[in-house]
Amino acid sequence: MNKKVSELLNAQVNKEFYSAYLYLGISKFFTQQDLPVFAAWYKVQAEEEQEHAMKIYAYLLDQDEDVSLDAIAEVKAEFKTILDAVQEADKHEHYITDEIVKIMDAAVADKDYRTQLMLNWFISEQQEEETNSKEMVAKVKMLGNDAKNLYLLDKELAERK
Ligand code: FEO
Repeated sequence: MNKKVSELLNAQVNKEFYSAYLYLGISKFFTQQDLPVFAAWYKVQAEEEQEHAMKIYAYLLDQDEDVSLDAIAEVKAEFKTILDAVQEADKHEHYITDEIVKIMDAAVADKDYRTQLMLNWFISEQQEEETNSKEMVAKVKMLGNDAKNLYLLDKELAERK
């Protein structure tokens, strides 16, 4: 595999684990806000992110590439408002999409069709993740910080799961 593609994929393993950590932090915040379903929602997200990391991890090993298991950056997860927390997730998903696109660009430049095929899954997944996080921001914006409304949204999320 081309060195640049391999390095970017390795870095992405770490970024996906960081995403899991970030979502766990957001989940913790919601638990502390007494919004258990919001918390459960972001905990599921955290689990999904670990699956993303493991997909790339397995792919690299399948290609006989090494995988570096670097330190995962600290997550403080201190938010002033509920809107801040959901916006952080939304911003992060856009960042991850940009990172996936950078790897795809490198794979295309290298005519690495196998990596492109693997990354296609991530391109679709990012579309879904961005749609979900955008929806969450829109809902929280509509409902504001009103406790009763947030309780209702918490219940609505429970029904979707
Ligand atoms: Fe794995 Fe939500 O990006």
